[in-house]
Amino acid sequence: MNLPYSNRALVVDDFARHVSRGKADFFRQFGLDFIPGERNGCFLNDFEGKAYLNCHCNGGVFNLGHRHPKIVAALKRALETWDIGNHHLISMPRAMLGRQLAELLPGDINQTVFGVGGGEAIDLALKLAKGITGRPNIISAKGGFHGHTGLALAAGDDQYRAPFGPNPPGFSQAKFGDIAALDAAVDSKTAAVILETIPATLGIVIPPRDYLENVRRICDRSGALMVIDEVQCGLGRTGRLWAIDEYDVVPDIVVIGKGLSGGIYPISATCYRDKFDFFFRKYPFIHISTFGGSELGCFPAMAVLEESSSAAFLQHVNEMAAFFSEQFTALQEKFPQLLIEIRQKGLMMGLKFSAEKISMGVCKMLYDNGVFAIFSGNDTCVIQFLPPLIIQKPEAEFAISALTKSLEVLQGMLGGK
Ligand SMILES: Cc1ncc(COP(=O)(O)O)c(C=O)c1O
Repeated sequence: MNLPYSNRALVVDDFARHVSRGKADFFRQFGLDFIPGERNGCFLNDFEGKAYLNCHCNGGVFNLGHRHPKIVAALKRALETWDIGNHHLISMPRAMLGRQLAELLPGDINQTVFGVGGGEAIDLALKLAKGITGRPNIISAKGGFHGHTGLALAAGDDQYRAPFGPNPPGFSQAKFGDIAALDAAVDSKTAAVILETIPATLGIVIPPRDYLENVRRICDRSGALMVIDEVQCGLGRTGRLWAIDEYDVVPDIVVIGKGLSGGIYPISATCYRDKFDFFFRKYPFIHISTFGGSELGCFPAMAVLEESSSAAFLQHVNEMAAFFSEQFTALQEKFPQLLIEIRQKGLMMGLKFSAEKISMGVCKMLYDNGVFAIFSGNDTCVIQFLPPLIIQKPEAEFAISALTKSLEVLQGMLGGK
């Protein structure tokens, strides 16, 4: 690969001066200041060429690994004919992608508005819920995460919005998984309950079996819309195409992002049920996103959906998930003082350690051993373990071996306890 810089110090210098000194300092301080260079499949190389197995995957952007040949080919083909297009107009690529999504989403979810990123798509979902119901309030989960744009930020955790002044009115939070708390919070002014099916930033929390079904019941009873954020957990991550499929619930609005890009071209989607079509029929131009659903980006997204929804692909995810489950269980038995909980649905995996210093130590040692994984922002004791869904057995064994080595070293440092 022909890199535009001759040495890493020059990159760091330009980045720190012109992009973000804060980030450069942060990563240097933790010894994690690698600079992604060449990338392929499950691996990211740093500037000097050391390979890292990517178990961060940018929260699912790289579900299909880096530069998946089918996705790259879809974009190259599209470049011969299409450009960004015009969000105001009727569009062939958006019609095709919209139809494909309608065929794959549960129940009567058959309308899509395309965006560029997840936060934007969440903003639209919440706007839509307010517009449809005529109600002002939104309830989200404590510690959940929906992005850093306006309404998405307002529905998220205080730590990300505190410096930006008071939150817009009408947002409140209830503990994820606690149906009584949600029931108490929802009332006749609630426009929407918004939840990630499996909250990632909260620490890959797997909901109690009947939780989402009960959320649906509370929304039905109160007239609030059920908005499900599948930005991280969708597109095969859990071993089903949509995580919500696991819980047999049809939400009113589903938001998709990250992996829909195939890691190649940004695109997101706010998908809603047929019966809510009346809103945009009344206001067809009330929401425009200039680059949203770029016609170029529709083609890689169609290739992502085709790949991720195939039975063979999902079977592979489930087989790899079974392998990780077995290996993690063995590690927990070997290191019970360190690894205290395994959270897993398919390849959406979280490892909870006994203290923040342990999880941070594990992150650093994994990195030193060639595996890139990061702890959850809202529960730093949990390492999110999100390998590309195309991971094969030898790469999975490499990840487990790196984790085992890391835990052995940490156990030794803690006096063998
Ligand atoms: C669950 C979830 N929803 C929404 C978003 C926001 O997506 P974006 O960063 O593309 O705006 C994220 C981003 O990490 C996310 O994890």
